Order: sequence, then structure tokens, then C-alpha cells
Amino acid sequence: MTTRRSFLSGFLAFPALFPIAARAEDAPPQLTLTPACGDAEPTIAQTEGPYFTPGSPLKRDFRADVEAVQGGGASAGSTLAIAGTPITIAGYVLTADCQPVPGALIELWHCDGGGAYDNEGFRLRGHQFSDDQGRWWFETIVPGLYTGRTRHFHVKVQRPGGPLLTTQLYFPGEPGNERDRIFDAALLLDIKEAPDGGYSRYDFVVR
Ligand SMILES: [Fe+2]
Repeated sequence: MTTRRSFLSGFLAFPALFPIAARAEDAPPQLTLTPACGDAEPTIAQTEGPYFTPGSPLKRDFRADVEAVQGGGASAGSTLAIAGTPITIAGYVLTADCQPVPGALIELWHCDGGGAYDNEGFRLRGHQFSDDQGRWWFETIVPGLYTGRTRHFHVKVQRPGGPLLTTQLYFPGEPGNERDRIFDAALLLDIKEAPDGGYSRYDFVVR
């Protein structure tokens, strides 16, 4: 059985898996969840919304942002960083002709399990750069819900020297997706449930 952890270790263990679409039939199951490559349209842009904070730390594991608070580390009056289901999201940054992009910026920010953003600090906010195979991954929690939106992650992606892509990622099966004004099915994660949480692959195609 694939677990959240084995998904990530499996993802990182197959650096030569290109082109993804051409290899889909013999790829491990967790590596086939990808937009078709070859006719790749750039990932669509969406608004960054009102809660982006520039200057986030270099961080790909957000779980301590939640656990620290659960363990009694919250400052007085803090309502931040309510826990949620652990989730690992991972993928490639690709060009439109399917070439992996090393050194691309990938920034992630999202609300906590209770639907609150940390607008004073950087809990559940961070960025990384894709590795030498063009891969990125975050370990975090499933964000909660807040009024007016369906469940979502916020992301920014930028290849070295390229334009900045700002977009959002969505969750399948959410009742709020149909009502959300900007929801787009092209930005749906393909979440797999595992005993230790969930995991999903998503590849960004950048200009
Ligand atoms: Fe948001």
C-alpha cells in the first residue's frame, strides 16, 4: 500500500521518469497523476487573494507550524495553526515542451485547519527551489475552509528568469467547488488517501 511517506520517497527515487506521459504505462501508480505533457498548456493563473505575505522562509515541511501550537507552543491569544490532515504534494516544474526546470521558485501559502491565515508570521507559508531534476515537494496539512471560498492552496511558481505564475490548487469532491467563483478543474489535485494522510502529484507548466 502506498503511504504518504512512500509516495514521496518513490517520487524522489525515480529521477529519470521523462517524458512523463510517454512513460505513464510503466510508471509506478503514484507517478501517473499528471497533466499530459507534449501538448502542455502553461498552468493557468489565478489571483493571489488578500493573504499573500512576501518574504517567506525557505521551507518545504510545514508540519511543525501546526505541531508546535498543538504542543502548547502557541503564544497567548493565538488562534493560528489549527491542525489538519497531513498531506504531501509533489511534482515537477516543466516547460511547455516537457523539460524539467531546476532552480524554479515554488511558493506555497494556505490557511490552517480552522480556515485562518497567519498574517503576522509565516506559519504555513514557505518557498523552495526545484531540485536538479525539476522536482518540488511540500509536506503540510489540508487547509480548512473560510467563508466565501472552497478549499484551496495558494502557489507561486517562477523559473529562473521567467515570469511569475500565481495560481491556486483545489481539492476534488469539495461541495464548495461548484459555488466558488474562481474554481477551475484544471487546478484540481488528484488526492490519494493513505493511512498516514493524503498525497497528490501536480506538475506546473511555466512559460
Ligand atoms: Fe485563500
